[in-house]
Parts: sequence; C-alpha cells; structure tokens
Amino acid sequence: MNFKPKLTNVEISIFSVMSALANKHNALNLSQGFPNFKSDQKLIDAVSKAMNSGYNQYAPMAGNLELRQAIAKKFELLYDTSYNPETEITVTAGATQAIFTIISTFIKLGDEVIIFKPAYDCYQPAIELNGGKPIAIGLEAPYYKIDWKLVEQSIHHNTKMIIINTPHNPSGTVMSKADLVKLQELTNHTDIIVLSDEVYEHIIFDGEQHQSVCLFPQLKERSFITASFGKTFHNTGWKVGYCCAPKALMEAFRNVHQFNVFSVHHPTQKGLTDYLTQPNHYLDLSEFYQKKRDTFLKLIKNSRFKFTPSKGTYFQVLDFSEITSEKDTDFAKRLTIEEGIASIPLSVFNDHQRDDNVLRFCFAKTDDTLKAAAEILNKI
Ligand SMILES: Cc1ncc(COP(=O)(O)O)c(C=O)c1O
Repeated sequence: MNFKPKLTNVEISIFSVMSALANKHNALNLSQGFPNFKSDQKLIDAVSKAMNSGYNQYAPMAGNLELRQAIAKKFELLYDTSYNPETEITVTAGATQAIFTIISTFIKLGDEVIIFKPAYDCYQPAIELNGGKPIAIGLEAPYYKIDWKLVEQSIHHNTKMIIINTPHNPSGTVMSKADLVKLQELTNHTDIIVLSDEVYEHIIFDGEQHQSVCLFPQLKERSFITASFGKTFHNTGWKVGYCCAPKALMEAFRNVHQFNVFSVHHPTQKGLTDYLTQPNHYLDLSEFYQKKRDTFLKLIKNSRFKFTPSKGTYFQVLDFSEITSEKDTDFAKRLTIEEGIASIPLSVFNDHQRDDNVLRFCFAKTDDTLKAAAEILNKI
C-alpha cells in the first residue's frame, strides 16, 4: 500500500518521552506540566453532581450557554471588557483543540505564521499540516524578550497570523504592556490575525498584571484568546478550555469546530459553570503558585544551577552551564536515569535545536515533591 502522510518529520513529543523515562526509572517527574495534587473536591463534586443530574448528552456546539456566560463575566471582572457569550465564546477540548482549529480555519498553502521560539510544541505542526509556513523568531535566554524590529522586518503580504503566548511556556516570562502596544501598532491596518495563547493568565507573579490582548481595543478586534481550565483548575486530564474572538472571526472558527469536535464533555462544563461563580477560585491561583515557586527557589538557592525567578506559569528554567558542557537533551536524560529527576530540555522548543544550557522544571507539585527535587538538585 502506498501512502504519503501529510505530516512527517515529527518526533514523539518530548513530554511523552521524558514522562516515560521518568516512569521507567522511577524518577521524580518535574518534566510534563501537570500538578501532582488533586483538584478542589468542590469542583469534582460539582462535575459528579452534573452527571447525576442528567448533563450527559451533547452540549450545544458552542458550549453550555451558562458556562459561556460565566466566562463572559470573568472577562468583565478581570479586564473590564465584554465578549458576547452567544456569538464570541466557544468551549473547546482544551486549548490545544482551540489552537489547532483556529489555525485550520485560517491558514492555507503558502500563508506565513510568525511564532516565537522557544514555543509550545503544538503551534508548528498545526501550521505545517495546513500548508502554512512557520516563521520563527528567536527569543534569547535568560529574558526571552521579543525583538520587535525583527517582527517588523518579518511581516509582509503573506503574513496571515502571529501567535503569542503570555505568560510564556517554557521560559516563565511575561509580555509587558509595551510589548502588546507594539504588537497592536504593527498589526494595525493589516489583515493579520493574532492568536494569543493565554492558558496561564491566572498564574502570574510579583504583582504583575496579565497583559491580555483584550485590553487593547484594536488588538482585540483581530485576536483569538485561547484558555485552558485544565491549567487553571489542576485537572489537565479533563481537556476542557475555550476561546473567544470577535463575532466574524468566531463564526468562521465554529464552521470548522462543528465538524472536528462538535461539542465538548458536558458534565464538566456544567461543573465548571458552578465553580466559576466564586472568583476566588481563579483569583487565588497566582498567590498559590508564587508560594510554590518561592519554596522551590529557596530550597535550591545554594545549588550550582543559576536562575531568574519565573514571572508566570508553573515552570522554572534552570541554567546548568556551570555544571556541565553536555547537550541539554543528554543532561536531562542523565539526570532522569542516574539522579532520579526528570525535566524538559529547552532546545526541543527552539529553532534548529539551539541549546542555551537550560532545563525547564514544573513546580506544580506538592511541597514534599519540591523538597525531594531540591535535595537531588543541590547534590549536582
Ligand atoms: C502554552 C500552552 N498552550 C496550550 C497548552 C494546552 O492546553 P490544554 O491542555 O488545555 O490543551 C499548554 C499545555 O501545556 C501550554 O503550555
């Protein structure tokens, strides 16, 4: 049989590789981005209640309306901006599906999409599968700031989309107001769509304010925001998220969404609706994770790893250049197999596997796990 897959040259995701290695060698797994503690019992009870109350058939294509209304309220409360729950918000199977569907809706053969590397790994394959061309702009360690001059030079008539991500996975940096103003300036009077991946919007530290695209009126007009309840409420396995965008963009999105997913797990949507009625469930998250970041960094302050404290997300990058000259992929594997701790080497997110000698550690872990991790890292 002769066949030619559309997507080739794809390796198994580094998250699967490192988690499998961690399991095989019984290592502490600080690689993949998921919490090792339970999500709130109240949320689990709300979802169970929804199942027992009969929310077990298809949800509406765009998502349970009450949930969309709750999401709209959250935007009003946090950003003083409105999205119409009927026409501008869609519930998705995690942020990944929203991202894939947004790209599939708009990107076709030859279209260019600007992405910033290191980048979360699902952007590039989705662009390529749709015939698009990723234009990667590198972010330099340790601050991972966007060089807007380079962005300006990279924009031309084929540029159809720019994908941003703040707070940023894997670096743990955040975009500033000036960054967003610049993006608004550069995209104004163009047909460029902005995909703003804001899955870590509620995990931001040191009193920083999350700079959502919806705070900038002209940017909001051309942007999709993607969000993930899995990241926000400690249940990445539920894979429920959402996206929002102005009506015309969302209409186009739904044309594709209805045929590749149609609708998303209904009882979870109902449970989330009830849970969102209390804003502290997401407002308290930054403080919760900042404590974890501080615990972790205090514990490893005397280690040979160097770091700039993470500004958002639940990831901390550690620079190992004073420890070894090994490739980051080799060092990450050796740490897992010989020392019993798994992380993610950042080169896998970079263009041409650029190696800045940094590893990413997930601190969404119990304090006991963070202590055990620090004990290992302090010995290296
Ligand atoms: C930046 C970023 N975007 C999107 C996702 C995917 O989110 P979800 O699990 O809701 O699909 C992740 C998950 O790690 C992420 O880190």
